[in-house]
Formats: sequence, structure tokens, C-alpha cells
Amino acid sequence: MLSVTCTAPVNIAVIKYWGKRNEELILPLNDSISATLSTEHLCTTTTITASPNFTENKITLNGVEESFENKRLLRCLSEVRRRADEHDKCRKEILKWNIHVVTENNFPTAAGLASSASGYACLVYALACLYGIEKEELSAIARQGSGSACRSLYSGFVQWKKGCHDNGSDSIAIQIVPETHWPEMRILILVVNDAKKKTSSTHGMSTSVKTSELLKYRVSSCVDKNIEALTKALHDKDFELFGKITMQDSNQFHAVCLDTYPPCVYMNDISHSIVNVIHQYNKVHGEIKVAYTFDAGPNACLYLLEKDVPDVLRIINYAFPNDNVKSVEYIKGIPVDLPESGTD
Ligand code: DP6
Repeated sequence: MLSVTCTAPVNIAVIKYWGKRNEELILPLNDSISATLSTEHLCTTTTITASPNFTENKITLNGVEESFENKRLLRCLSEVRRRADEHDKCRKEILKWNIHVVTENNFPTAAGLASSASGYACLVYALACLYGIEKEELSAIARQGSGSACRSLYSGFVQWKKGCHDNGSDSIAIQIVPETHWPEMRILILVVNDAKKKTSSTHGMSTSVKTSELLKYRVSSCVDKNIEALTKALHDKDFELFGKITMQDSNQFHAVCLDTYPPCVYMNDISHSIVNVIHQYNKVHGEIKVAYTFDAGPNACLYLLEKDVPDVLRIINYAFPNDNVKSVEYIKGIPVDLPESGTD
């Protein structure tokens, strides 16, 4: 019997991935950029045990047994096993053993808090550790579990390159800058609602690809320019530019969601109030101090610098006193080590 436990963090996109050119292989229409959070905060922990005595594969998510007949899960498993089989040093004897997977998120699953990103990053990394290929490039495998998962395998600010090969071999994640590059960067997550979202990202983006003209414009005319400018902002530690592009991309992404037919409505009234408060706050200060971004849900992620955290927390608590914002997660940095692992 062999057992491996890994922890992997969530990532929050500042230039969003929305739309696939190949749904089977999860190949995106555009590049995206995100920051990987620290594993102290929002993360997934997964233990995988392989044994010659297990009669079937099993998976438990947050204490509930789920079906193993999940296409994405099976694809990740077979891809890691295929790579391992080609590898001289892998533990070939265990490739045929069944496995039991036990996975836990320390935050609400599927509430637009990127649970599939940390979940599949963790699964793929744990499988790679189990079979002894954890040093390989794994993001192209994690991508096939959930697109955004490929970015959680690297720390700091990370770009998922859409790639141009039909087989997806160059659709991988790369680190733009490490977490040490901009150590003053902080994230606040304002949990507006932690219920499971109504329209999954997978379904929502598939409908956008079929129906949204605005998505075509976003992909053909906007994202590449923003990727270039945001990369420069990161290298230069230019918060003004970073914040502007982050907010504009979030707004365009949600505009695409509304342009989708039927529309995907992820932000709610409180989300929009948060947007207003942030713009007012920046206006009063005559510069961008805080940038918001919203994934496929109503919860806000605020990027800001450490020196501004106390004042921004004060304003948030003042503007949303009645429990409208259920909790505020304070992410001390974007410092992350590669996924942690341990083997017995
Ligand atoms: C809005 O990666 O969850 O968070 O590839 O279908 O699993 P699938 O989608 P997923 O979509 C994430 C969408 C997003 C933007 C982002 O993280 O870039």
C-alpha cells in the first residue's frame, strides 16, 4: 500500500479564461493570468492511497463519496499513468492498483471561489507524486481536469498560454513573476454568498462561445493587448496599470456573461455596490488603491498593497455593516510554495 497527501492553493484570475476552442481537451480561446494564493488560506488537501487489495477506485469530496465515472477525473488519471509508464524511474508495479482519493476543501466548494482549480491541481500533483513523476511538466494534465487548475501548479503570477497545437501540448502554465517579486501585494476576499452557483463555469462559457458576439470581440481585439500590458505592469510593479486592467477585464468578462443567451448573471446587488465603493474610494484618493475582480460568482476579490489594507478594511466594514458581506478573508500575500506533498 502506498499513500500520498498534497495541498494545492486556489488562484484568482486578473485576466479571465472564458471560452474553449476544444471542449474535450480543455483548450482555451485566450491566454489568462492569475495570482496563486497562499496554501494557508484557501486550499485543497488530497490523499491518494493505492493498494493491490482495493477492489475498485473510490473518491470522497468533503466527506461525501462521489462517482469515479467522471470524464475529467478519469482523463487526469489516465494521462498521469501514461506519462508514468513512459518514465524509467516511475513506480510501475503500482500503476495497475486501484486508488482511493480523499479530498477536502477548506472553503465553500463551487461557490465561485475556484475550488475546481485547487482541486484538480491537487489531484494531478498527488497522482504524480504517487507514481514518482512530480518533477514533470504537469500543467497540461491539470488543464484537462479544469482549465484554471493548470495555473495553480505555479506560485506568484501565472500565465496560462492558450497554445497553438491541436493536441494541447503547448497549452500550459508558466510563472510570470515569483511571489517574492511584489511582496507588498495583498488580496481580500469578500464572501458575499457561499452557496453553490447556479450556472457552472463550464456550462456558462460553453453557452457564451455559442451565443456571445461580445466574446468574439474580447478574444480578437482585447485580451492579447491586456496580457501584454498586465505583464509589463507586473514587471514594473505598476499598481495603477495593474488595477485598471484587472477591473476592466472583470467588467468585460461579466459583460460577456450578460451578452450570453440566456444570460449568466453571477454578480448580485452587493457585488455591484462593492464595485461602486471601490471606484469612489479610488476617486477620493486620486489614484487606484484597490482593484476588484469577480469570478463566476458574486464574491469579490480585492487586490491592494499592504499599506492600504487597514484603511480599506475600515471602509468595507463601514459600507457593509449588516452582514451583507459574510466574511472577509485576508490573504497576506501571494506567497506560495509549490504544492506540498508527503508520502508514507
Ligand atoms: C471565471 O476552469 O472552472 O474562474 O475549464 O470548464 O473547468 P473549466 O472551467 P473553470 O473556469 C474558470 C473561469 C473563471 C476565470 C478564470 O479562472 O480564469
